[in-house]
Amino acid sequence: MNILVIGGGGREHAIIKALKKNKDVEQVYCLPGNGGIQGDAECYPVGAKNIPLIVHFAETHKIDYAVVAQDDPLALGCVDALNALSIPCFGPDKKAARIEASKVFAKELMKKYGIPTAKYEVFTEARKALDYVESCPIPTVVKADGLALGKGVTVCMTREEAKKAVVSCMEDKAFGEAGRSIVIEEYLEGPEVSVLSFTDGETVVPMVSSMDHKRAHDGDEGPNTGGMGTIAPNPYYTPQVAAECMEKIFMPTIRAMAAEGCPFKGCLYFGLMITKDGPKVIEYNCRFGDPETQVVLPLLKSDLLTVMRATTEGKLAETPVEFSQKSAACVIIASKGYPVRYESGFKIELPAPEEGKEIYVAGAERRPDGLYSKGGRVLGVTAVEDSLEKAVAAAYAYAGKVSFSNGYMRSDIGKKALEVLEG
Ligand code: AMP
Ligand code: GLY
Repeated sequence: MNILVIGGGGREHAIIKALKKNKDVEQVYCLPGNGGIQGDAECYPVGAKNIPLIVHFAETHKIDYAVVAQDDPLALGCVDALNALSIPCFGPDKKAARIEASKVFAKELMKKYGIPTAKYEVFTEARKALDYVESCPIPTVVKADGLALGKGVTVCMTREEAKKAVVSCMEDKAFGEAGRSIVIEEYLEGPEVSVLSFTDGETVVPMVSSMDHKRAHDGDEGPNTGGMGTIAPNPYYTPQVAAECMEKIFMPTIRAMAAEGCPFKGCLYFGLMITKDGPKVIEYNCRFGDPETQVVLPLLKSDLLTVMRATTEGKLAETPVEFSQKSAACVIIASKGYPVRYESGFKIELPAPEEGKEIYVAGAERRPDGLYSKGGRVLGVTAVEDSLEKAVAAAYAYAGKVSFSNGYMRSDIGKKALEVLEG
């Protein structure tokens, strides 16, 4: 089979490595990929938002199955365009991708179907939003409606910050069209859990839970990033929480999407907060998380391609999806200064392969003499072990063998989770 993966970060590298375990996979292409992914797939510099060129590529390269891994092409209808040529795809169509691409759509869906989430108001005029902020409960959270590279959410501890966030979104257009409408929502407190799930529109199969570390620095300080590391499973996601999520969040969401005429097929990511009133949805993503994928897929025992095709074909109910009982940790090595200001073009030397460890390349280019950093998040170093403690130690030990002079990593990935486990 010829497989096409659309995207070019660490998540895509993890997906490709997992897909290649299937013996029927002959050729994997990745658009645009990166210098590290080039070791595992044929990469071409076609941007993930260039739908006409992606479709042309898929046609001329006789693609049998495509995995659209990134949010932008999903929101732009890449799956619809490929399906129109009878190329089966993993991922939601454009209508279903709204669950991530429009926070207003997601919030209204949750309200209509009674899915637990923060209370909210929607605004399309800055003046009305500013009036509301004068008297709303503080802290509050201001969210741009559309896709904003993960930067469209501002948690505001003061009224002044909330006003600034409204002005930045709606008047200064910091996120362009994405901030034309905004959601202002109730501030929730509690530990966060990421649950990625496979769904074919009717059946939903949660994957092993995970915990992201979004802030740039140790102790959850510094600016929000795309994610500086992950662990799985997440100790806050107890069997009781899992059962409550299935009953009140996962199944109701899948049914709601079907009832709205946009059944969701692919990977639906539930960003949850475990509040004192039970689990609530912080956000939905219409795709695998990055870097959650880098700890979740190494724990998948079933064949990824088989499970993906079952979601496309509506056969998930009869397809076994098994996860290992082990634990995984992923430490991101970013460029110094990420996410604010950083330089690229530093040489990277990767250590020799080791059992139970993987390095997923997120941002690098290949030059004749080797790999050079390119971008903010550069590498994801994952280890799988019998316990979380061992997985964290092994990921850091392996990361320590990487040579990359401009590299920066947090030193406390998994610390909070280990504290929970130790009680
Ligand atoms: P998002 O981009 O939607 O994942 O939001 C980024 C981060 O903002 C989340 O991971 C939370 O830590 C925080 N956040 C989002 N919504 C809320 C909320 N209603 N209350 C508290 N924190 C929130
Ligand atoms: N790690 C968060 C995300 O993928 O959105």
